[in-house]
Amino acid sequence: MADPVKTAVQTGFELTIRPLLESDLPAADRIVRVAFGTFLGMPDPTAFMGDAAFARTRWLADPDAVLAAEHAGKLIGSNFATNWGSFGFFGPLTVEPEYWNRGVAQQLLGPTMDIFRRWGSRHMGLYTFAHSPKHIALYQKFGFWPRDLVCNFTKATDDSREAPRDTVRFGESKTADRAGLLAACREVTGAVFEGLDVQREIRAVSDQRLGDTVLIWDASRLAAFAVCHTGAGSEAGSGLCYVKFAAVRPGARAGQDFARLLHGIEAFAHSQNAPRITADVNVARREAFRALLAHGFRPARHGVAMETGEVGSGYNRPDVYILDDWR
Ligand SMILES: CC(C)(COP(=O)(O)OP(=O)(O)OC[C@H]1O[C@@H](n2cnc3c(N)ncnc32)[C@H](O)[C@@H]1OP(=O)(O)O)[C@@H](O)C(=O)NCCC(=O)NCCS
Repeated sequence: MADPVKTAVQTGFELTIRPLLESDLPAADRIVRVAFGTFLGMPDPTAFMGDAAFARTRWLADPDAVLAAEHAGKLIGSNFATNWGSFGFFGPLTVEPEYWNRGVAQQLLGPTMDIFRRWGSRHMGLYTFAHSPKHIALYQKFGFWPRDLVCNFTKATDDSREAPRDTVRFGESKTADRAGLLAACREVTGAVFEGLDVQREIRAVSDQRLGDTVLIWDASRLAAFAVCHTGAGSEAGSGLCYVKFAAVRPGARAGQDFARLLHGIEAFAHSQNAPRITADVNVARREAFRALLAHGFRPARHGVAMETGEVGSGYNRPDVYILDDWR
């Protein structure tokens, strides 16, 4: 956003919406935990997410994509937008509980939609609580419509799993090769949904040492890749390997390549001493959903994807092998 926006129209008190600064991160991190922990009725809301972290990782990945809401010199809310090329999503969106239902989230969402316009996002989405009329109504005001459920899958890591042949890790590649690897990943995602590009996620994991990206090759062509977070301070937290994003090149071999990718993720989790793996899939991606079940993953939780555009727009289709998290 160009300049901070001051508003008193809807909130009834003076609110400044501005870019989130690095110095805001401790307060933003606390509000993310307290807001979700309070909404979920946790006895100690600050314990939400344990030693996993969202605020710092996402701000470092793209500082211009994060908005702050400030009142009387104090941070009272924030929203994180993510640029995946032609697709954009936002979250976590959080407001200090004592300020709920006073229009703060809506004041953050208007400028968030401006960010998507600036990026030229063709399709936009978010993940939210399917059981909350408030959440659904709030996002409908901004053109999002509830679509398919999203399933959060989990699985105990099989510690006998070896990395499949033709697997490499982005973090182990030569610096000179990295631009080529990012382009290969972009080619795979672009074949699923034109312009889809998660290079920021791959670079963030590498630059911030949050985990690694597992790449599975078919001779000289990239068949599939998975961006994995693991450990304290990452978006996974201790003991978890969390698949932030994974995609398989579409085509006749996609099912087999997805199975290879799941083995590669499991071998990576084992190598990092992560006893559990989590991965999200939109249930419209039926083949991927079934393959996860067949591989031993089990549903832990469901939310709902809300999206702009008409039914069928975006990349949630039965034959799409993508795992992603829009939180
Ligand atoms: C969700 C959250 C960000 C909303 O922030 P907020 O500042 O309270 O939201 P706002 O006041 O701007 O907007 C809420 C709107 O929902 C409406 N609403 C509240 N309860 C509702 C209900 N049961 N049914 C329909 N609409 C409802 C409000 O009336 C308001 O609309 P209005 O201004 O037209 O009256 C905040 O509650 C929060 O931090 N929750 C915990 C974390 C979270 O769930 N984040 C979002 C994850 S997707």
